[in-house]
Order: sequence, then structure tokens, then C-alpha cells
Amino acid sequence: MKATEIKPDIYWVGAIDWSIRDFHGYMTPNGSTYNNYLILDEQVTLVDSVKHSFSHVTLDNIRSLVDPSAIQNLIVNHIEPDHASGISLIMKHMPDATIYITRKGKDGLDRYVDTSVWKFKIVKTGEILNTGKRNLMFIETPMLHWPDSMMTYVKEDNLLISQDAFGQHYASASRFDGEFMKNISEAELDDAVQDYYANILMPFGTLIKRKIAEIQELGIPIDMIAPDHGIIWKDNPSKVINMYLDMANGKADLRVVIIYDTMWHSTELMTLPIMQGIKDEGVDVKIIKLRATPKSTAVKEFWTARGCLVGSPTLNNGMFPSVAEFLAYLKGLRPQNRIVGAFGSYGWGGGAVKELYDAFAKMKLEVVEPGIQLIYRPSAEEKEQCYEFGQEFARKVKEYHKNF
Ligand code: FEO
Repeated sequence: MKATEIKPDIYWVGAIDWSIRDFHGYMTPNGSTYNNYLILDEQVTLVDSVKHSFSHVTLDNIRSLVDPSAIQNLIVNHIEPDHASGISLIMKHMPDATIYITRKGKDGLDRYVDTSVWKFKIVKTGEILNTGKRNLMFIETPMLHWPDSMMTYVKEDNLLISQDAFGQHYASASRFDGEFMKNISEAELDDAVQDYYANILMPFGTLIKRKIAEIQELGIPIDMIAPDHGIIWKDNPSKVINMYLDMANGKADLRVVIIYDTMWHSTELMTLPIMQGIKDEGVDVKIIKLRATPKSTAVKEFWTARGCLVGSPTLNNGMFPSVAEFLAYLKGLRPQNRIVGAFGSYGWGGGAVKELYDAFAKMKLEVVEPGIQLIYRPSAEEKEQCYEFGQEFARKVKEYHKNF
């Protein structure tokens, strides 16, 4: 897609990845984009490079505006390879440019590429690069998303270039929020923001709140947020800031998601009466089978619901492997403010439900115990017990939900 002007003399020169479906294990059914921005000023400045395999796309977009050798500054807001693995190729076309980067960014970049022939300026929060008519202020945002991360604020344009934060993995021909909502839908955009937050930023809610407060204390007006993935927030940047604050403060829907896997359909047979019991208590409910659903999608569903029931058959005295994998992924995301329970079928010794509660305890999640487990296949009486378990869980979820 050709270079797109986002502010006078500031252009998106990034690339759209229509075909990526596996983003380091995070499934991206809608693809992604790798955004970067070219500022045409007395000193031409590029903010972020691009994923290596898309370097030619960014270079062509730059060439449509200016010869790459005219670029005097490259700002590296984030060194993760989806943004910085194209840096060596891009720097070949602008070898005299100075790279602006945090200390941790430089140290990290040294581990990926040979930086010995490039000029660097290490920057900190509040430092300013004057490019002629514009002042670009750097704001360090460690752990949003990596220790090196920072944002760049273009003062004269009230533009925050926010790297990973406020992004979405979504390939579309729309470059702006209003355009996306008109061409696709607001619900699809909300879903993409939640999916991205759940899989990338869930562990950092406290940091997010602190960083947003810090930016607000700086008193800098923001009328556009340009992230490194997905659409640019032009019509309503406060929408995504409020969504982030809500998520960081524990907002979720009054809904239960049942996430399970099954061997011979017995655990699966338990999900239906449990689901009915939840629904009959007036709580929305959804069922996700793990081997039919990417774990990143299951995590998004977990994150948007207040309650979650995890179902697993017992295999070799423990959890079914796909359930164990999901819980390992979830544990790393350090979820909070959710209530959980467990159920499952076993053949002889059992063990899966106990392992599930052990995992919940390690995550310090609110639990409804003891869960429900049964031998082999649920009888008619046990299906009734599953129904009642669903009802009881839904009542606990409604009670817990009042805290938020
Ligand atoms: Fe889009 Fe943390 O990289």
C-alpha cells in the first residue's frame, strides 16, 4: 500500500502483512501491519524501520516521497524483530543517519545486528530532537512492550507515535480508525484491540496505568495516536486510551467462557449442562474447544469474560496436554480480576481437576472449589449435577462481578 499522509508532511510508510497467521505463536487470523512513519522536515526523520521481509515495501514508500539517502535521523522506538529486523537493509540506503534509541534498545540491538558502523544517540524521557519546524520528544516506556521500548511525541502535530501500545494485529486497507469502522465495523476494531491487549499487554496493566498517568501529567495534547500495528487513531484517540484504562482496571463482561478439551467426548458432554446452568442463571456463556481454537483466541475469550471454567480429561494422572499448554500460556500473562473453576472426566485415578486448581492457585485467581469430576461418561444424574455446578458458578461470578 502506498505512502499515506497522516499529518502535513508526515507519512505512514509501513507495510501490510496480509498473510501472516502465526506471529511467534500468537495466531493472527486477520494478518497484521508493520507501521513506520516518515517526517519530512529540514532533517528528514524515519520513525521505526520494519520487519526484514518487508524492507523493500518501506523503501519503495520512502522513495515515492524522498531519496532514502536524504534521511538524517532514524528513531528506533522498539527493537523487537517485527519492527527492527529490517534495520540493516534500510541503513544501507541511509548510512549517514543518526539512530535515536534508548540505552536498553542499543544494548539489545547489538545482540541482533552489527551496529559498529552506525552513529547512535542514546535518549531518555523528555529529551527532544529538533528536526527544523518540529520538536520530537522521547518518552521511555520500559516493558511496553520490551525493556527498550519508547514512544515519540511530535509536539507541533500533537501526534503520539506509540510503537506496540494501542496497536492491533489486523491487515486492512483502512489506515485510520473512522475509515476502519466505516468499512469493517467498530465491533471488529474493539475485538482486535482486546485480542492484542490480552495476548501482548495483559501482564502490564499496572505499568499501563502508570504510564498513561505520566503522559497525562506531562500535559501534552494528543489528537492522534499512531501505533506500530494496525490502524492509526485519528478520529477518536481517547477511545483506545479509555479501553486500555478499563482493561488495566479489570473491566470484563458478565460472561463465563468454558474452555476445554476432550478425549472421548466425556468432558465435552459435561460442557453442555454446565453451559445451560450458567445461561439459566442469566449469565452469558460461550464454549471454546482448545484443539479447535488457537490458544491466543482462547486467551482473548478468557480476558473479555469475568468467569472461566476450564475442563480437562485426565491423561496419565494429569491434565490433557492442550489444556496444560493453554494454562502455561495464561500463567505467563499474569491474569487478574477473574474467577475460575474446573471440571473433567477421568478413567481411574483422576488428577486433571486437582492440577487445574493447583495452576489457578499459582496464578492467585479467585476460585470456585471443588469443581466437578466424574468417572468415564456422565450419567443422567451427573448431567444434572453439572447443570447445578453451572448455576452455582454463575451465581458466584455475578457476586464477584459486583467488585468491578
Ligand atoms: Fe510489535 Fe513488541 O513488537
